[in-house]
Amino acid sequence: MPRIYFRTADQYVEFAEGEEVNVLRMAIREGIDVPWQCAGGNCGTDRLVVEEGAENLDPPRRRERARLGKLVDDGYRLACQTYTRGDATFSWDPDQAGLDNGPGGGDGGGSRTGWAGTG
Ligand code: FES
Repeated sequence: MPRIYFRTADQYVEFAEGEEVNVLRMAIREGIDVPWQCAGGNCGTDRLVVEEGAENLDPPRRRERARLGKLVDDGYRLACQTYTRGDATFSWDPDQAGLDNGPGGGDGGGSRTGWAGTG
């Protein structure tokens, strides 16, 4: 069974073989304390370092690239924009805030509408 390991929280989530799951959604569902605000690829609060399993992740989409900029090249992903089909390990700074440059940044934490708010 594939496993997402959230190293900073020392917790993991398993999911069914053959599924593709959203990393932030899985963290929220299991009560894992990944920082996040918008769940829409805008704030950058949920940027994670991919430690292992990059090959199992879908490639960054345009919105994610725009939000992260060169951080993508440093191995960062936005949890809310990242889907995995297999094992992956992530870490993050527990105190990190949103990225305040570029579109959507610095809005101080707007709505949590969308999939994350509706369960
Ligand atoms: S939670 Fe805002 S970009 Fe992912």
